[in-house]
Amino acid sequence: MQKTLQHIGIIMDGNGRWAKKRFMPRVFGHIKGANTLKKIVEHCNHIGLKHLTVFAFGRENWQRPEEEVSLLMKLMLKKLNKEIDELHNKNAKIQFIGDRSRLNPELLQAILLAEDITKHNNGLNFNICLDYSGQHDIVQAINTIIKEGKHKQITESILESYLYTEGMPNPELIIRTSGEARLSNFMVWQSAYSELYFTNTFWPDFKPNELDCAIAWYNNRERRFGQTSEQLKDKE
Ligand code: IPE
Ligand code: IPE
Ligand code: MG
Repeated sequence: MQKTLQHIGIIMDGNGRWAKKRFMPRVFGHIKGANTLKKIVEHCNHIGLKHLTVFAFGRENWQRPEEEVSLLMKLMLKKLNKEIDELHNKNAKIQFIGDRSRLNPELLQAILLAEDITKHNNGLNFNICLDYSGQHDIVQAINTIIKEGKHKQITESILESYLYTEGMPNPELIIRTSGEARLSNFMVWQSAYSELYFTNTFWPDFKPNELDCAIAWYNNRERRFGQTSEQLKDKE
């Protein structure tokens, strides 16, 4: 892995279609997807990645059938309780990103506990976006700034310091599975210069070796940030 790759974002999509293809209810896709996540987190730990942020449930996903939302929340709680010790032993630091006000109290408790237990770990920073919306994050940041009244004018770095992702580097690489080529409100601010990797693989079928492929693809990108190719070569 190249030194410049510190942060990977993943939009874990395609659980429902994975299940549908097998004539199974959508929830089976979510269960299988959770197993995939476990393997990917292990792999990120193994390769020494610093930050992994996964999109687990978006603000817009509350609009899904109540039964699916409730199953997803239950699955989240179950997996969190099951995996927390192992993640802690592997020195991972867990953080949930998003609006916490609508989460059920039991899940919120488990989240607070997981964050507290792992807060001093310095291995992989594992961030889970839950009730997350990139646009909403910007709005909540601006509202906090207005309420505090400390800043007459804001800059990019001031705004960034009020976002949920405060202190994290922006994701250099964002992966979306399932063939959709959109961000669906994931990291809309932080993705300004991200390399975007889209794959047709449904999330439950996504394997560590495909993550390696995405990283290899990333390593071949020329990241110009507005400059010309020649300017970059001169600096080498
Ligand atoms: C992603 O898979 C998981 C969540 C959004 C919670 P989907 O459930 O969106 O799967 P598809 O897109 O319907 O296949
Ligand atoms: C986006 O997935 C968010 C997650 C993967 C959690 P969706 O599958 O809900 O996104 P859209 O609605 O197809 O854009
Ligand atoms: Mg989807």
